[in-house]
Amino acid sequence: MPNFLTNFINKPLLPFSSGGCDFLWEVTAKNSNYIMTCCEEERFFILVKDKSPKFIIKGEKLSRPSQVIFLQQALIEYAKKAACSILSSNITPASNRIKTKNPAIKGIELFADNFKTDKEILLEIGFGSGRHLLYQAKNNPDKLVIGIEIHKPSIEQAAKQCDILGLKNVILINYDSRILMEFLRSNSISKIFVHFPVPWDKKPHRRVISPYFANEALRVLKVGGTLEIRTDSDAYYNYALDIFMQNSHANIQVLKNSDLQISSKYEDRWKRLEKNIYDVILTNTKLHPDNSAISKLNFDFLNNIDKIIQNFTPKLFTGDGFFVHFEDMYTGCGRIVIKTAFGAYERAEHLFIIIEDDKISYFPNSAYATKANKMAHEVIKKWLNG
Ligand SMILES: C[S@@+](CC[C@H](N)C(=O)[O-])C[C@H]1O[C@@H](n2cnc3c(N)ncnc32)[C@H](O)[C@@H]1O
Repeated sequence: MPNFLTNFINKPLLPFSSGGCDFLWEVTAKNSNYIMTCCEEERFFILVKDKSPKFIIKGEKLSRPSQVIFLQQALIEYAKKAACSILSSNITPASNRIKTKNPAIKGIELFADNFKTDKEILLEIGFGSGRHLLYQAKNNPDKLVIGIEIHKPSIEQAAKQCDILGLKNVILINYDSRILMEFLRSNSISKIFVHFPVPWDKKPHRRVISPYFANEALRVLKVGGTLEIRTDSDAYYNYALDIFMQNSHANIQVLKNSDLQISSKYEDRWKRLEKNIYDVILTNTKLHPDNSAISKLNFDFLNNIDKIIQNFTPKLFTGDGFFVHFEDMYTGCGRIVIKTAFGAYERAEHLFIIIEDDKISYFPNSAYATKANKMAHEVIKKWLNG
């Protein structure tokens, strides 16, 4: 994360603009300040930490902009305006070119905005190096291939490959697939591939496959659509088969050591070790009722800002399948900023709540009404209103 260390700051009056960056307002808590900054239409916080007699000034992690150069530029401009005497720094931009966004990479809001396509959809979960995903995209130019990964570097690597190969039918989303299912429309997907999921033998709650996931997969699959698990793990194979068998109507196929047209890095390794490879394929046989599109979570009104300021202490609320953690509060310039974590245990939202002019919003992005988020949001609204 770009940062610099200084032993002097001549705090500039806000707002001010410099070098294409706008420094808008500032909030303060014990020993640290957040400065709301805007560069190339992206808003993010710069964090000033008082480590007397020095200050560390850096980008704030949750609101990190899409390109590191925005942050570097903002820190350079702030250092100039505040006449900082820099002791050490890593804010010299390696290149001053703004990278164009890779069109294959999309945010989860794509699905929240009631995503529609006429194309047949193939979905790959945890695509890793992306060999299978790219193969599917190359060989099915008329289909849309959606890849979901929690590992950001894998998303970037696959996006680069799409660029090199000229693939225009790929969408890559950096998200947890266990929650993603809630965003997908019923009866909309032809195939779901889960190849070599992490077995998580010691932490089974982290597995992609669960009874809930299997039900959601059946809901989003078209009639005749398949969920295909490929694994080298005997335990995971038995686990997936057991879960699939729990459905009252199940069409299940099991294959042992079948060859696919394309072999992933993991598969190559297991084959060299002469391990058995299993496919467990679940076919959907039912049409499912349509689900409603997932919406953004909004706030309505606020009773008493002063009460929030007076009563704030870090607090943790837990409920059935969700939690809310109010971590810290910052105030200043007529605003309250509350750092929070909330939602599902397996995929928490880490967002700020900004209260300004009696308006309340999540920052840096919206939160969506997944089941866990909805319950957490109700707790947040009640708590804000005392
Ligand atoms: C063992 S690797 C297999 C990669 C690839 N499918 C292959 O066959 O080479 C498992 C992949 O799943 C991803 N993963 C794990 N949990 C996930 C989740 N909840 N949602 C999305 N991706 C996940 C990991 O980041 C990793 O890339």
